[in-house]
Amino acid sequence: SGPEAAQLVASRILDVPDFPKPGVLFKDLMPLFADGVAFREVIDGIIAFHGPESFDVVAGIEARGFVLAAAVAYATGVGVVPVRKAGKLPRATHSASYALEYGEATLEVHQDAFTAGHRVLVLDDVLATGGTAEATLDLVERAGGTVSGFTVLLELGFLKGRERLAPRPVHALLTV
Ligand code: PRP
Repeated sequence: SGPEAAQLVASRILDVPDFPKPGVLFKDLMPLFADGVAFREVIDGIIAFHGPESFDVVAGIEARGFVLAAAVAYATGVGVVPVRKAGKLPRATHSASYALEYGEATLEVHQDAFTAGHRVLVLDDVLATGGTAEATLDLVERAGGTVSGFTVLLELGFLKGRERLAPRPVHALLTV
C-alpha cells in the first residue's frame, strides 16, 4: 500500500552530504535497489499503482531510472526505452537541455524510440527541481509517445518539481 511503500523507501535512503558538489545533500537510493525484497515490492507497487494495462512501453531516465524501467518492463512484458545524457545514443536523437539542482545537462532520446501514440510510463529514482523530468516528458512527446504516467521513488517536495510539471500527474512513493 501507499504508506508501506513510503516507509520502505524512507528506511533505505542514505543522505550523502556534499555530493556531487559542495552544499548538495545527495539522496542515495542504492540500498533500496540492493535489497531484493524491497526492490521487488517497490516495482510491484509501481505497476499496481498505474495498472499493468495502462502503458505500452516504459522509459527510464539515466541512470537509476534504467534499473526501475527494466524491472517494470520485464514484469509486464513491454519494452524499455532509455532517455540518456548527451552523446550516448548512436542514432538520430531529439535533445532537450535543462538546469539541474547542480549544473546543467542535456538529455536525448532516439527519434524512432516510440511507436506513434504508444502510452509511455516514465520512471526515475528522484524528482528534485523537475528539470530532468520536464525535459524527459517533452522528449517522449517529441518522439511520438504519449506520457501515461510518471513515477519516482522519492520526491523532494520543497524543490517544487511537481509544480513545474503541472498539469501532468506525478506519482511519488515518498515525498519529503
Ligand atoms: C538525479 C536523479 C534525477 C535527477 C533529478 O540524476 O536521478 O534523474 O537528478 O534532478 P532534477 O529533478 O533537479 O532534474 P543525476 O543528475 O544524479 O544523474 P545520474 O542518474 O546519471 O547519476
